[in-house]
Amino acid sequence: MHITRLSDALGAEVTGVDVSDIDDAEFAEIHAAFLDYQLLVFRDQTLDPEPHIEFSERFGPIETRPDRPFTLPGYPEVSVLSNRIVDGEPVGVISAGDFWHTDLSFGEIPCRATFLHALEVAEEGGDTEWSNIYTAYDTLSDDMKERIADLRCIHVFDRRRNRRAQVDKQFADKADEVYGVPVQDAVHPMVRHHPETGRKSLYISPRFVVGIEGMDDDEAQPLLDELFAHQIRPEFRYRHRWRQGDLLMWDNPCLIHIGRGNIKPPGIRHMHRTMVLGDRPH
Ligand code: SIN
Repeated sequence: MHITRLSDALGAEVTGVDVSDIDDAEFAEIHAAFLDYQLLVFRDQTLDPEPHIEFSERFGPIETRPDRPFTLPGYPEVSVLSNRIVDGEPVGVISAGDFWHTDLSFGEIPCRATFLHALEVAEEGGDTEWSNIYTAYDTLSDDMKERIADLRCIHVFDRRRNRRAQVDKQFADKADEVYGVPVQDAVHPMVRHHPETGRKSLYISPRFVVGIEGMDDDEAQPLLDELFAHQIRPEFRYRHRWRQGDLLMWDNPCLIHIGRGNIKPPGIRHMHRTMVLGDRPH
């Protein structure tokens, strides 16, 4: 197995391994690299849904929401992200992750790791970009660190309640059905400790955070705007140009990400995704 750093900000490429057939020693190496680099890119993976699920489950229980749109038939653990249209109907979520976010932070127990496998990629467009929120926290001024130390943020799934995240075009005519599902808001510390490394991260994102507990919007919204701008400074980021067969896994407590879209027709980008749950943020 060879592990090569991808950027100063985050990420490493892993070659010489088939994730559908790893032993415990290889798992230990992958796990250690995951903590060191936050995002791993495994090239040339041929991965059916079962091994995709089995590899993911080594890191935690997979989240399966019964009302999640576009899961793979027979595999509620696997979501389909795709711009393919068959008989006039989309076969997957077309623009998943179109605002900066960390996965499932609107849940009481958010996502620890996400696993996204590229079955087909478009010639142009469809990149994904990550930003390192460990570094975002580390580079705040001491005054700001003190100001936000004990703040708790309100994370909301429903885009209709978030002025920074418009309703997805694909779901515009069924917004009530898609965003009105009974998901309770979550309140998490703004400064989160990573469950394994213990490092602090700036655990917020414009897609899910709409306010700060106990703080008036007059004060909270400008503070959030400042922190959202800070957490995506270019030097904290890595942008991935996908290749067919790539499997990417990333560590949600310390990264935020965005799907860049803009797939040039007739390009098809078709992906399978699993998400495993982690700890209660503290
Ligand atoms: C996601 O946010 O989970 C998916 C991002 C992408 O498809 O690029």
